Amino acid sequence: MNNAIIRTEKLSKVYDRGFRTVALQEVNLQIPRGSLACIMGPSGHGKSTLLHLLGGLDRPSSGKVWLDEVELTSVAADRLAEIRARKIGFVFQFFNLLPVLTSLENVQVAMMLAGVSKKEQQERAAELLNLVGLGDKLRARPNQLSGGQRQRVAIARALANDPEILLMDEPSGNLDSRAEQELLEQIGQVNDQGKTVVIVTHSESVAAMAQHRIYIRDGQLMGNMDTTGENR
Ligand SMILES: Nc1ncnc2c1ncn2[C@@H]1O[C@H](COP(=O)(O)OP(=O)(O)O)[C@@H](O)[C@H]1O
Ligand SMILES: [Mg+2]
Repeated sequence: MNNAIIRTEKLSKVYDRGFRTVALQEVNLQIPRGSLACIMGPSGHGKSTLLHLLGGLDRPSSGKVWLDEVELTSVAADRLAEIRARKIGFVFQFFNLLPVLTSLENVQVAMMLAGVSKKEQQERAAELLNLVGLGDKLRARPNQLSGGQRQRVAIARALANDPEILLMDEPSGNLDSRAEQELLEQIGQVNDQGKTVVIVTHSESVAAMAQHRIYIRDGQLMGNMDTTGENR
C-alpha cells in the first residue's frame, strides 16, 4: 500500500524486569492515511505496547516504525519529542489529566510543549473545549468532572496542536452508553477532518465504525484488513 501514514517492520518489544515478557513479536503493518483504524485483541496481548510504539512514546526492542518518511525508531530523543508534540495526539486509557490543573490548563500544557504563546494557548484551549462541549467547564478540575467529561478534556488536549494522527487507548472502556455515543460522534468528526485515528478497543460499536482493523494476539499480528475484507 502506497498511502500508509504509519508503517512498521518486524516491530518487537520485550520487557525484561526480573522476568521476560515478549509483548510484541515482529509485527508488520500499515495504517492508511486518513483512515479510522482499530486495534483489537484480548487483554494483556500487546495492544497498548503497540500503540505506544506507533506514537513514539516508547522504543522497540527491535524493528522499525515509520511515520510518513521519518523512521521514528532511529531519531534522537529530542527530535522524537518534537515530532510527537507536532504530529501525534494521544488519549490515554485513564486520561492522565493533571489533577491540580483546570480543564483549560490541562489543554494548554500540550501547547506549551510545542512552544505556542500563552495568549494563543488560552484562546485555542477554550475553543477546543467548547468544541467538545465543555465550554462551561473551563475552570473545573478533573475531580469535578464526570468520566465522560474527563475523556473530552483528554481529547481536546490531544487535538491541541492539530495533530495528523490521533491515537486512543480504550477510550470507551469506562464510559456509559450515552457517553460512548458522544465519543463515537466526536471520533467521527475528527476523522472527517482528514485526521488518521487509531483506537485500541474492545467495543463492537467502535469497531463497526472503523475502516481498518488490526487484530493482535499473543503479541502477534493476526489480521490487518480494511472492512471490505481485503488483506494487506
Ligand atoms: N512496562 C512494562 N513492564 C513490563 N511488562 C509490561 C509492561 N507493559 C506491558 N507489559 C506486559 O506486556 C504484555 C502486553 O501488555 P499490554 O501491551 O499492556 O497489553 P494490552 O494493552 O493488550 O492489554 C503484558 O504481558 C504486560 O504485562
Ligand atoms: Mg492496554
